[in-house]
Amino acid sequence: MEALERILPEGIPFPGTRSYSFFARSRIMQTFYRDVALDVTREVERGRILDVGTGPGYLPLQISRMIPESEVIGVDISKDMIKIARRNAERAGARNVRFLLEDANRMSFGNETFDLVVSTGSLHHWKNPVRVINEIYRVLKFGKKALIYDLWRDAPKKLLKEKLRECGYSITAGLIMYSIVKAHSSITVEEVMRILGEEGNMFRNYSVEEGWNSYPVVKVTLLKV
Ligand SMILES: C[S@@+](CC[C@H](N)C(=O)[O-])C[C@H]1O[C@@H](n2cnc3c(N)ncnc32)[C@H](O)[C@@H]1O
Repeated sequence: MEALERILPEGIPFPGTRSYSFFARSRIMQTFYRDVALDVTREVERGRILDVGTGPGYLPLQISRMIPESEVIGVDISKDMIKIARRNAERAGARNVRFLLEDANRMSFGNETFDLVVSTGSLHHWKNPVRVINEIYRVLKFGKKALIYDLWRDAPKKLLKEKLRECGYSITAGLIMYSIVKAHSSITVEEVMRILGEEGNMFRNYSVEEGWNSYPVVKVTLLKV
């Protein structure tokens, strides 16, 4: 598995972009983006918000609707994902959202540009997670937070079953979908703690929440002080 991870590209290439985009339109994912966007509204009322590894861009679209006085920028390393996200923004008629092709390891933004950085389902893709985390640190303003959410590999089945039921899914179909997704696209709390504990990590102030909002998700909150 580790050898495979090494040769796989960091971003999602075409045609994987198209199947992911289809999955992202599912009820459970749209509900998840809405709940993350709500979480974001608890942190900021306006300002510049960055979504790292934005994929099809649904999260920035939700945030831009909930916080109209914000400028939301979604970045992704995959050209096709940016194409999909731009098309989704155009269809939604979103004005305060932009999607840019950027590698999160070295972004083109200046230091202290953003009031909040968010990221969903991207952390497990990063080949050098501390490098990306330090880039997030660089572009974030002092006193501001980064919220990083990823699928929790060790989540108790009960948690997932309840969430699937809440979203109206059949448990069997949901568990099959989850097992496929979690085989690659997930992270354990130990892996997260190992990344955060690395000496190079610039964030000295962080917390980790497993089972965030009753999702099989790990949420990492990083504060730049
Ligand atoms: C599983 S998708 C999640 C997409 C979206 N955030 C969501 O929750 O639906 C992970 C995304 O991270 C992007 N990604 C991975 N490594 C990246 C990097 N170094 N810089 C920018 N984007 C990256 C991938 O191309 C992919 O679109």
